[in-house]
Amino acid sequence: MHKSETRTIAPATTLRGEIVVPGDKSISHRAIMFASLAKGKSRVRGLLRGEDCLATLRAFQAMGVEVTESGDNELIIQGRGLDGLLEPTDVIDCGNSGTTMRLMSGILAAQPFFSILTGDQYLRKRPMGRVINPLTEMGAKILGRDVGRKAPLAIDGGGLTPLEYSSPVASAQVKSALLLAGMQIEGTTTVYEPHLSRDHSERMLRYFGAEVESFAGGARVTGRVVLEGREVDVPGDISSAAFFLVAGLIVPDAELLLKNVGVNPTRSGIIDILQQMGGSIELLNPRELSGEPVADLLVKSSPLRGIEIGAELVPRAIDEFPVVSVAAAFAEGVTTIADAKELRVKETDRIAAMCDTLGRLGAQIEPLADGMRITGGRPLSGAAVNSFGDHRIAMSLGVAALRAETEVVIEDTACTATSFPNFWELLNRLRP
Ligand code: S3P
Repeated sequence: MHKSETRTIAPATTLRGEIVVPGDKSISHRAIMFASLAKGKSRVRGLLRGEDCLATLRAFQAMGVEVTESGDNELIIQGRGLDGLLEPTDVIDCGNSGTTMRLMSGILAAQPFFSILTGDQYLRKRPMGRVINPLTEMGAKILGRDVGRKAPLAIDGGGLTPLEYSSPVASAQVKSALLLAGMQIEGTTTVYEPHLSRDHSERMLRYFGAEVESFAGGARVTGRVVLEGREVDVPGDISSAAFFLVAGLIVPDAELLLKNVGVNPTRSGIIDILQQMGGSIELLNPRELSGEPVADLLVKSSPLRGIEIGAELVPRAIDEFPVVSVAAAFAEGVTTIADAKELRVKETDRIAAMCDTLGRLGAQIEPLADGMRITGGRPLSGAAVNSFGDHRIAMSLGVAALRAETEVVIEDTACTATSFPNFWELLNRLRP
């Protein structure tokens, strides 16, 4: 559990400067996992040192993977191959990290040993049936609390057969868990999804030398794959950049340059959403880094207007809706977010959390069963609000506070260490 921490955020007259956001959380998890399962040594640069990724790193260290620091935010990971992991001697603690728990379930289901995954009070409430059920169809032996739906999960690994599976949710964690189980066994495992979710697993597995096919409705892997140690450069996290994109748009007379941000099309929905709202965001210097597209993002204050957001954009911006609701509160007209009921099962129920907190600050925001409706233009004023222990709620409130008329007190802000340990420091640095 995070120690209690409260921050008081004053309105900003302007924001200016150049920043580098920390490494992408999803890509960092995968870099640690695939480097650990590869043959030989990998060098990973720019890894996110947030609590979620450290949970993944500790899990592999507990299974015998050697990790050493080398210089400027570079880790050397000595891979043990698909067959080299050791049975962990203790429970693996995934902390707050859904990605750790769901992807590790897929990896461990195929490993010939016993393991137990647990997490913090928030993670233990989140649905795990979405990965446990299809893994069980593959022959996995996994027991969990609440009739196998919640952690802790006990995994008696091995004995899997391949699967062709249509996922009812567009979830990269479900898709990845099945691909990571499938890649360790003979035969072809295929995952279909209703809308394309982030494809970092597919890209990075190919980068490590595996044959993984991506197609419009999903992905396919034929095992057993051989992963070879690689040099990986992790791009900046667009989900972390998103807070500064919205801050740069809503604070008057602002101009920010966000360097080296991942702009993978399965993740860049936030740029499309904010541009459709009228935001000035330019992609400069586009290039590729370890199989992922990156660019520098230049954002300038802009008048915003409300828009309608639905099924196609939702998986491409799934973690950004808390901060999209902040942009919408400062836009003219109505913004509707629909087809986003997944927001109810994130680190917290993000629909309820944003309606509660932005509502307390004076925004006109209503919950929908599968999203939110926000009528922009009402001034926000200071109040005390709580993050519900969710890093993205805390940071979204920090952004909203920049345009409130008086100071905002945000309770429970230490959770930002989950994905963005230096968020508050960077935010302060951009003030005049
Ligand atoms: C992630 C996938 C998404 C996202 C999460 C990270 C990943 O979750 O919300 O923050 O790294 O695969 P879902 O797969 O549940 O949509």
